[in-house]
Amino acid sequence: MKWIKVSSYEEMSKVACSIFVKQLQHKSNSVLGFATGGSPVGFYKEIVKSYQAGEISFDHVRSFNLDEYIGIPSNSPASYYSYMVENFFQHVNISKENYHLPDGNAIDLKEECVRYDKSIEESGGIDLQLLGIGVNGHIAFNEPGTSFASLTNIVNLTESTRIENARYFENIADVPTQAITMGIQSIMNTKKIVLTAFGDKKVAAIDQLYSGKITEDYPASQLLMHPNLTVIYGSEG
Ligand code: PGA
Repeated sequence: MKWIKVSSYEEMSKVACSIFVKQLQHKSNSVLGFATGGSPVGFYKEIVKSYQAGEISFDHVRSFNLDEYIGIPSNSPASYYSYMVENFFQHVNISKENYHLPDGNAIDLKEECVRYDKSIEESGGIDLQLLGIGVNGHIAFNEPGTSFASLTNIVNLTESTRIENARYFENIADVPTQAITMGIQSIMNTKKIVLTAFGDKKVAAIDQLYSGKITEDYPASQLLMHPNLTVIYGSEG
């Protein structure tokens, strides 16, 4: 496990990017795990720059995202699909058939969960996974109390997560109440994990992780059992 303390959001983004660049230079057909939210926006900017500078290519990359809302169209600006296209996919040479997000509009959502885990497995598994962390210790949409054995599944979003994510919607009533998320076990199955957290708001979450106590009440704590975890963190204060 590696803890890297940074002094700015930009530095966090650059350090995370450099790990992905190294991964792609070492294995051009890597399977990458991507995240959405505020934390990775700077990371995507950096990795697009590395692509534009010719340091890396996404020609042979396959990717899987952690999660997607249930019940909003994928072309809605608030969907994670749109986030990924806007922040990343449209700027690099990754082809549409090579990037994947869970389908939050699948007719059979349970079957979609099984299909998603299977398609990750069939790709050979995720080589490098990017993660953020919620103020309550959630990873992806795995909220406190989630079983560490969970695979991709349908979850009810907690009120605190809906409030946190309301910034991406016109008003809180528009925030979906459910999502499909890779489970904690699905995340643990990835070969390397980079967790990013910056800002005063995340200090308590990182302190809790650092304390080393492993409990399902704090989903991120299971990551401490992962053989290859890097935490890149810091705050203004
Ligand atoms: P954030 O969210 O990157 O938008 O802070 C992370 C998370 O809630 O997992």
